[in-house]
Amino acid sequence: MAQVSDLRFLVTPGGSLQGRLRVPGDKSVSHRSIMLSAIAEGETHITGFLEGADALATLAAFRRMGVEIEGPRDGEVRVRGVGLRGLRAPDGPLDLGNSGTSMRLLSGLLAGQSFPTTLIGDASLTKRPMRRVTEPLATMGARINSSETGTAPLHIEPVSGLSGIRYEMPVASAQVKSSLLLAGLYAEGETCVTEPAPTRDHTERMLTAFGYPVQVEGSRIRLCGGGRLKGCRLRVPSDISSAAFFMVGASIAPGSDLLLEGVGINPTRVGVVNILRLMGADIALLDERLEGGEPVADIRVRSAPLKGIRIPEDQVPLAIDEFPAIFIAAACAEGETLLTGAEELRVKESDRIQVMADGLMKLGIEAEPRPDGLRILGGTLGSALASEGGGIDAHGDHRIAMSFAIAALRAGGPIEIRDCLNVETSFPGFAALAETAGLGIREVRT
Ligand code: S3P
Repeated sequence: MAQVSDLRFLVTPGGSLQGRLRVPGDKSVSHRSIMLSAIAEGETHITGFLEGADALATLAAFRRMGVEIEGPRDGEVRVRGVGLRGLRAPDGPLDLGNSGTSMRLLSGLLAGQSFPTTLIGDASLTKRPMRRVTEPLATMGARINSSETGTAPLHIEPVSGLSGIRYEMPVASAQVKSSLLLAGLYAEGETCVTEPAPTRDHTERMLTAFGYPVQVEGSRIRLCGGGRLKGCRLRVPSDISSAAFFMVGASIAPGSDLLLEGVGINPTRVGVVNILRLMGADIALLDERLEGGEPVADIRVRSAPLKGIRIPEDQVPLAIDEFPAIFIAAACAEGETLLTGAEELRVKESDRIQVMADGLMKLGIEAEPRPDGLRILGGTLGSALASEGGGIDAHGDHRIAMSFAIAALRAGGPIEIRDCLNVETSFPGFAALAETAGLGIREVRT
């Protein structure tokens, strides 16, 4: 069979989103469910696991280190943990594809092993900054070689031991925090990480679910090495980052009324709800409950007129993956929206400030990129067809592709988006699910 080299979305304008949907499992929680269950003692039974390429890359990496894993089948996975010291040397480099979370968290988890590993990734991952983890890991005693610019491939050398550190993170990054905590499991003494602003706390919550003591006091997270994780049952909530496209879509498309079932509403992830509500969105959290240590709710979204806002900087880390979708909301809002304090968006799967500004301008929206954010003047979205020289380039970034697909709900003509294959990394089945809700989307593979 010929290899698919590109996936394009062709989306017809207009329509509304209706009905009940369940988006796939949370990517961050899925990664951690495999990592922690692999180094736990005994079996872990996971449900709701995200069968997207990123989480599957993590799963494949642990299989190659000798962990027996059954599934995933319909989101169900059984992992037979090998204990903290039971991983085996893989027979070659571990390819983590597009996944920054896999690479940064595995750097920490593998830094204290008695065997070497090499971590590699695709062109996008190979450009992303890794010094933010390799430098503090080095102060713990890790030996990790990267390229001259501090990027992958990462060669992790075996060491006889790590020692705990006290580390004040210069950037608000859950990946850095998690990487150091995972290394801390293997370190002598205490590892204490302080974050400059709250970031997603799935690692801390899940360590607790595995019976590993973690102390959280305000912005400080501490643990001691050498303990044990005990296999358990885990339920992965639906991913609020995937639900975000539908929250924006239902908000901007007149006549929409959509229910998103079982979505994770961890307080460190709800920035998108807070920001959209500030813009005037009609979002209700229903039947709030706790599932497997994570808060979950059904989210009802009805269309509402949106207004531009100055996005509060304290919401940035809480909505860090949702800005591409939020920018679409801003483009459909009345007046100006200003985002500042979000330079991290420039080093995600693509430079999300520039790539979103370019796409919005193609649709006729005034968008001014700034070093740390973006100013958007809401207006009327036009069309974007490649044949007319105006298709949107997703730059291989899953969230850019899905954001512009949703934008078609309010566009004046069809929108064509290229380089969408990586939607598979976080949201397999996006187009089919969006279509059942009312989006006129067609996939073209070439
Ligand atoms: C993630 C943390 C975030 C986020 C990424 C997943 C995680 O990155 O952007 O998609 O699972 O820890 P940073 O913590 O580096 O901002």
